[in-house]
Amino acid sequence: MNAPALEVHMDADDLARTLRADVIAGLTADSKWLPPKWFYDARGSELFEKITELDEYYPTRSERQILHDHAAEIASHTRARSLLELGSGYSTKTRLLLDALTAAGTLETFVPMDVSPTALSAAATRITADYPGLRVHNIVGDFARHLKHLPDGGDRLVAFLGGTIGNLVPEERAQFLADVRSVLDPGEHLLLGTDLVKSPRVVVPAYDDADGVTADFNRNVLRVLNSSLDADFDLDGFAHVALWDADREWIEMRLRARWPMRVTIPGVGLVVDFAAGEEVRTEVSAKFRRDGVDRELDDAGFALDHWWTDRDGLFAVSLARAV
Ligand code: AVJ
Repeated sequence: MNAPALEVHMDADDLARTLRADVIAGLTADSKWLPPKWFYDARGSELFEKITELDEYYPTRSERQILHDHAAEIASHTRARSLLELGSGYSTKTRLLLDALTAAGTLETFVPMDVSPTALSAAATRITADYPGLRVHNIVGDFARHLKHLPDGGDRLVAFLGGTIGNLVPEERAQFLADVRSVLDPGEHLLLGTDLVKSPRVVVPAYDDADGVTADFNRNVLRVLNSSLDADFDLDGFAHVALWDADREWIEMRLRARWPMRVTIPGVGLVVDFAAGEEVRTEVSAKFRRDGVDRELDDAGFALDHWWTDRDGLFAVSLARAV
């Protein structure tokens, strides 16, 4: 069987250009940073899949439980004809939604959008095989930039799962939710996964696991810079840091230079110096409360129809309607 075609809104050039701009902006800043989307080359996507199987990493398990318990209700409430999934990765949890929407008899089209063509192709091949009759329309794109390419067609359900919205800082989140709202018609739906505020004793180990898988995932961004920009980062020179910011209620992942280093990045013509102990922020993963999610959805033009959590209250899935 043929794998479904990819609709590409980020070709290799676009990807390379965006990476270069991000690296220049982030590594010449006073406080260095790199955007989390560059974790996800083929190896990074696989490392993330490994993270989702760790004992310490509760979000995936918790969200899966919620989707398992409420998928039928999501299907009957939305009666969606198309499911549009942003940042879909390998689409493992999505199957619960595909099953329920197929059983309800409404689903015609599945549209996964992701920056990783490898993850998309792998998922699409399996999903096409397992859901005969389902139209699979893959989009290689960045959910922060390519929402306008999401197909029209009515009765759409946009799913943004995993807590990935937490990778956006508040201003980016407001923009993102407004963008999603602007592509939808009133009465169409958004299904949003958000990790919840909880004790740092639970949340920190989820981002700093005993086996060091998350550390490897974090350092993978340096591997991506080495291979795509010909940089010479010494991965052993950077320690993985996961820090709970109690004021902003988010986790920050950082890479901390263990000793002074001078790194050359020929792909962007940069030489970057790191002092011993200097850090690069590589990810923010915000945690949420119900009133905050409700307010942010409301501000963007959505009404919160359902709020579900797992039995331990670790994670929430919101079903919102465009108004
Ligand atoms: C895929 C963005 C939801 O923030 O928990 C996992 C990524 N980073 N471990 C998250 C991640 C470190 C993950 N998201």
